Amino acid sequence: MQIAVIGTGNVGGNLGRAFARAGLHVVFGSRDPGGSTVAGDTTAKVATVADAVTGADVVVLAQPGGEVSDFLRTHAAALDGTLVIDAANRFPGPVLHSAAEVAELVPGARYARAFSTQAWETFRAPTWDGVQGDLFFAAPDTDRSTVEQLINAVGLRPQYVGAGEQTMLDPLLFVLFSAFERLITENIAGSRSILSSLGVHDGDQLRNTPSNLAPRRSIDRRDRSLRAPGEPG
Ligand SMILES: NC(=O)c1ccc[n+]([C@@H]2O[C@H](COP(=O)([O-])OP(=O)(O)OC[C@H]3O[C@@H](n4cnc5c(N)ncnc54)[C@H](OP(=O)(O)O)[C@@H]3O)[C@@H](O)[C@H]2O)c1
Repeated sequence: MQIAVIGTGNVGGNLGRAFARAGLHVVFGSRDPGGSTVAGDTTAKVATVADAVTGADVVVLAQPGGEVSDFLRTHAAALDGTLVIDAANRFPGPVLHSAAEVAELVPGARYARAFSTQAWETFRAPTWDGVQGDLFFAAPDTDRSTVEQLINAVGLRPQYVGAGEQTMLDPLLFVLFSAFERLITENIAGSRSILSSLGVHDGDQLRNTPSNLAPRRSIDRRDRSLRAPGEPG
């Protein structure tokens, strides 16, 4: 299975290296492959975006959400027949995923939504105090085991919400924000840099998010898994 990871930033870099460390064949797609050190100590390769998607079985979208439609248009032929795993968030929404765009622009691709509802720090360090983080995902039934394999490779515990259920996952990101808001309220060091890494710089934006979308228990669990390594509990 050849995996193309599009975007070599915090999300793409940590996912691609984790996949490669699990023995999977990874090619990062970068706008500047020659200058990239994203593969680190792994066997992953770095190529142009066009070369990365050529021959890929799975394509992970880890670029800014606003770039996804152009990417799909430009590489539609190569994406035909692939499984597209969408980790990108189209801020400011209201719809954060790109399922409709994939269906319209690459009708021959299959669509899954994963790696969109946890912060990149969790992809780098998925376990705190012995507690393994969860990752909710949506995928066609036939691709469920593939996505689970990738989530397991990152060290997270796959939680399947169903085929075509990507819209159900968007609110979980707001739950994540809500957890971050509490971290800020409690003035825990490091929370602002985590938010910044998510592209969230405006505290007012957070205060307007629907914090009541998940049971309290779930938010508490997120707090645990969101705590950065070394951050006080
Ligand atoms: N940050 C998080 O914790 C988090 C969590 C879940 C999902 N997400 C989503 O995952 C995606 C990537 O987030 P990230 O935090 O990894 O972002 P990032 O660190 O800024 O990385 C984005 C990467 O996308 C590529 N890219 C392609 N076109 C670009 C453009 N016009 N401007 C900037 N970069 C471009 C770049 O790689 P090259 O320079 O090599 O082309 C860049 O390194 C976003 O859609 C975000 O919403 C983020």
